[in-house]
Amino acid sequence: MTKRLTCPAIRSFKSEKRPLVCLTAYSAQIASLLDDHVDLLLVGDSLGMVLYGFDTTLPVTLDMMIAHGAAVVRGSNRAVVAVDLPFGAYQQSPQQAFEAASRVMKETGASAVKLEGGAEMAATIAFLVERGIPVFGHVGLMPQHAQVVGGFVKQKNRDKILADARAVEEAGAFAMVLECVDEDLSREVCDAVSVPVVGIGAGSSCDGQVLVTEDMIGQGSGYVPSFVRQYARVHEDISKAAENYAADVRTGKF
Ligand code: KIV
Repeated sequence: MTKRLTCPAIRSFKSEKRPLVCLTAYSAQIASLLDDHVDLLLVGDSLGMVLYGFDTTLPVTLDMMIAHGAAVVRGSNRAVVAVDLPFGAYQQSPQQAFEAASRVMKETGASAVKLEGGAEMAATIAFLVERGIPVFGHVGLMPQHAQVVGGFVKQKNRDKILADARAVEEAGAFAMVLECVDEDLSREVCDAVSVPVVGIGAGSSCDGQVLVTEDMIGQGSGYVPSFVRQYARVHEDISKAAENYAADVRTGKF
């Protein structure tokens, strides 16, 4: 039986200078396809936009995250699975965060939760870690703050981002996402902390990378952020298959 990676093992990737490979997964099927190739599967609340068609991640609920998190755990046996805590499920207090995170851990079997926030969430991260819940941090652009910062825009406040990354590390996160910052700044952040910094739209000098799988395989039907590298064009294959199937049914060939 394959042994699943652990959060401490992921943390040590940094000192071992091993690049950390992460992708999002929302279903058992996609998780099983990715599991042999990645170190960490992230059940991101981006599923609200990618799967459910919301304009932002804000409408995503804890029950949705738990249903998808459990599916991803069932579909994988090697990668660490981290599940996002959705907007409104953890910001109010460390106690509220513990209630949400402990449900995720019990009901999905995931290894960790991810939450957005820097210095302002440090006490919450420490509260969870001290009580047995590994936390994957998320600084830089935080999509749950999109309404405050004016959308999905590059984050340039160097001092704040550095302070946030240090606070998240000191609070005990085993790794963190750094989203949408210039490469020079992401290099500084990586040098400032001793846990892996996983970039998305943050240049190639991070300790690892994460992408939304549907962007990476070209399965989304709409906007693809400019930083995404596409390795397949699944959207075109599905659309062509549906066109050919419809033509065959309509002409009596099938
Ligand atoms: O929700 C998500 O999928 C994420 C990644 C894009 C980092 O937070």
